[in-house]
Amino acid sequence: MSLNELLDAVFRWAHLIAGIMWIGNSMLFNWLDRNLEKQAGLGKLSQGKIFMVHSGAFYDVEKKLLAPGELPETLHWFKWQNLTTWLTGISLLVVVYYMNGASFLVDASVHDVGPTIAITLSICSLFTAWILYDLLWRTLGETRPRLSNAISVAILFGAMFAFAHVFSGRAAYIQTGVMIGTIMTGNVWMVIVPSQHALIEATRSGKEQDPALSIRAKQRSIHNNYLTFPLLFIMISNHVPAATSHHLNWLILIVVMIGGAGVRHFMNVRYLGAGKELATAAWLAPAVAMGALGIVGFMAISRIDPKPKYGIDHVVTFARVQEIVGTRCLRCHSLHPSDDVFTAPPVGVMLDTPDQIRVMAPRIKYRAYDLANMPFNNKTQITDIERAELAAWVDDGALLK
Ligand code: HEC
Repeated sequence: MSLNELLDAVFRWAHLIAGIMWIGNSMLFNWLDRNLEKQAGLGKLSQGKIFMVHSGAFYDVEKKLLAPGELPETLHWFKWQNLTTWLTGISLLVVVYYMNGASFLVDASVHDVGPTIAITLSICSLFTAWILYDLLWRTLGETRPRLSNAISVAILFGAMFAFAHVFSGRAAYIQTGVMIGTIMTGNVWMVIVPSQHALIEATRSGKEQDPALSIRAKQRSIHNNYLTFPLLFIMISNHVPAATSHHLNWLILIVVMIGGAGVRHFMNVRYLGAGKELATAAWLAPAVAMGALGIVGFMAISRIDPKPKYGIDHVVTFARVQEIVGTRCLRCHSLHPSDDVFTAPPVGVMLDTPDQIRVMAPRIKYRAYDLANMPFNNKTQITDIERAELAAWVDDGALLK
């Protein structure tokens, strides 16, 4: 195992664990907030109570503001899960996309940028995104939240479109994800945590908290809430090559994001406050509809095919297939790859022997012809005719003769 692979595994594992803790916490608190019950007899600083049963006993939780002097010794914060998720995410970005000559970041068939420029663009876009977003919501966002929402979404979709035209497909998705994750982390550390500090200070000195701070923090935490489902899809998007390497990959992501945020929305409005819960049908149906819309949109767009069909009217022999595989695939998909980056056969796929090629035939057609995203970043410069020859051989029964 190379150092790069080891770091990849360690950061990925930590990223997943921290991410589950962060998003899990945030979902639980969202749920708590929406399920608080106002009861008679609670103090005027109380915002409601809730009883839960878990792990062998009952939890009696009350959400309230505190009078001066009531601040407890130990106060638990929930901010490190977010920071750990972000730091491990950035580390993964570096290990997977920046190292190895940025070979996952750049795809010459998308845009012929050098690794240095690609990496610089990737880093700069993260800073720019946060600065623009924060500035927008500290100015216009205070008075015109709807307009600011529209502008934010337009900038997000615009950035996705730009990424899809500069970076490789999978990198464009991940870059969008890191950008969203960076904004969410900025929201936690630059807005939400400071607002909590101010709340503690105000409580200590017996004053009201500056409402502007808490309104801003609430805004940002709602943004984070809506961004979670889309971001989680991006985290798994490398396993959906039909989306990432599609020529309209940015449009697919937009559809999936709208679907994911929509599902989150209907989960949010599910609880309107104690006694006012929406009937299950009233939120579940639209939530399922949004999810279905995302999936149907994904299916529809990923079928739009830009490739000219090359009519191969001769029989493609197995010898010819072996020749193509030998020059275009074996560099990586071999027991002993000669590639500089992939020193072990990617995902264990080896195409050294006739049987290995025959067994893989459907996937070869799917990846080299239908999706046309193998060879990886077309590093071995396969031609469209060769892709069509591979497909024709598979269609004719993938015979070894
Ligand atoms: C530069 C290295 C490289 C070359 C050359 C290459 N591949 Fe791949 N291949 C990869 C990597 C990396 C993966 C895993 C990531 C992925 O699935 O996108 C992979 C995965 C695959 C998979 C398994 C995933 C699946 O969807 O079943 C198949 C099949 C495949 N490649 C076929 C081919 C064929 C056919 C060629 C030649 C026409 C080829 N590859 C050339 C790097 C390469």
